[in-house]
Amino acid sequence: MIKFDRKYLKGYVEARDLENISGQVKNAHDALENKNGAGSEFTGWVDLPSRIEDKFLGELKKLGQKVRKNSDCIVSIGIGGSYLGIRATVEYLRDPKLLPIYYAGHNMSSDYFYDLFQKLKDKRVTVVVISKSGTTTEPALAFRIVKKFLLKKYSEKQLKDRIICVTDGKKGSLRQIADESGYQSFVIPDDIGGRFSVLTPVGLVPLALAGVDIKELVEGARQGQSEYSKADVFKNSSYQYAASRFLLYNKGKEIEVFASFYDNMYYVGEFWKQLYGESEGKDGKGIFPASVIFSTDLHSMGQWMQEGKRNVFETFVHIDQIKHSIVISKEKSDLDRFNFLAGKELDFINKQAYLATREAHYEGGVPNMSITICKSDLFHLGQLYYFYERAVAILGYLIGINPFNQPGVEAYKSKMFTLLGRK
Ligand code: PA5
Repeated sequence: MIKFDRKYLKGYVEARDLENISGQVKNAHDALENKNGAGSEFTGWVDLPSRIEDKFLGELKKLGQKVRKNSDCIVSIGIGGSYLGIRATVEYLRDPKLLPIYYAGHNMSSDYFYDLFQKLKDKRVTVVVISKSGTTTEPALAFRIVKKFLLKKYSEKQLKDRIICVTDGKKGSLRQIADESGYQSFVIPDDIGGRFSVLTPVGLVPLALAGVDIKELVEGARQGQSEYSKADVFKNSSYQYAASRFLLYNKGKEIEVFASFYDNMYYVGEFWKQLYGESEGKDGKGIFPASVIFSTDLHSMGQWMQEGKRNVFETFVHIDQIKHSIVISKEKSDLDRFNFLAGKELDFINKQAYLATREAHYEGGVPNMSITICKSDLFHLGQLYYFYERAVAILGYLIGINPFNQPGVEAYKSKMFTLLGRK
């Protein structure tokens, strides 16, 4: 279960405000469902969870079992939507039983590759190269670099069993490379853009290879699809989140901070920033997405949140039941004066910090909402991914932009190619 709490929006967003824009939300919902809104050619993710076949999940599971027998780790090459959903899922789980995944293609630091190869040199490696367009510079170069490294360990023939490509069915250089080299490949559907693709082979293939229970992730997203496809804003917490963001934005709250007291949510925050930043930030519009992990950032950004410029709102992503318990011990001397907490669970104290922070920030002029997932398992992560996808699409339509393109990303690329002298 995912609970959405608007208590600390009081005075900023009331039920009557939601009521007032319920017609606009319904129009956005209809445009999404009827595929007649901006960018509708990229809305294949809307009913994707219910279309994923269990047979396909079973095949990926088998492939994962095979890879785990002959590999000590995976290198997942990709950037943006071809990177963050994988990393968010793995870091959220923090399961030592999974095959380790190393990442490449999301930066061009030579030192990063040097360190990576130090880690890989005595390991048996399987590589998954992911690029929807099949032409993105960073992963393309990373693949060249990683392949050169692999050729010191394996022959070209052996690499056929160690390289898997996830890309377009027909277009792009990666498709051509996969076909001509005889690498196993998976197709990313045409109608799903990168940042909405975590439940396509983009996310499912590397996660299955690592040993993640992708069926549970998909089941959660299916639950999300059934809960967050309701047109009525009062029956759909994803739409309440979208509508509340819209109302806050219209009141000059132009920055949203994703805040969690659980550090395994760090990359979920990164995933959210990409999904929201790349979907909304266009035509001079959009809420700027930022993220913090508390308590760490309470002792840095916490000051800004409490007393900085009041153009910000906050969304806590909270976890009800955590996996492991630590109880504070009693000390004879009590020199640190914390015996009053002896016998208390650390998570209980963490939760009081959360309750205190949301109240303090609200009193400091930062309206905030909470999204609480009852358990940090895969099911709820799948549901949360869908919750976020649906909400960003609705917000995009509410502010009148196309949430499914990213024309601005091209600007740096064309300047970089000019500098590099590409013809
Ligand atoms: O959301 C998006 O479309 C982008 O973030 C892409 O995922 C990113 O640019 C990588 O693109 P590609 O998978 O084509 O290499």
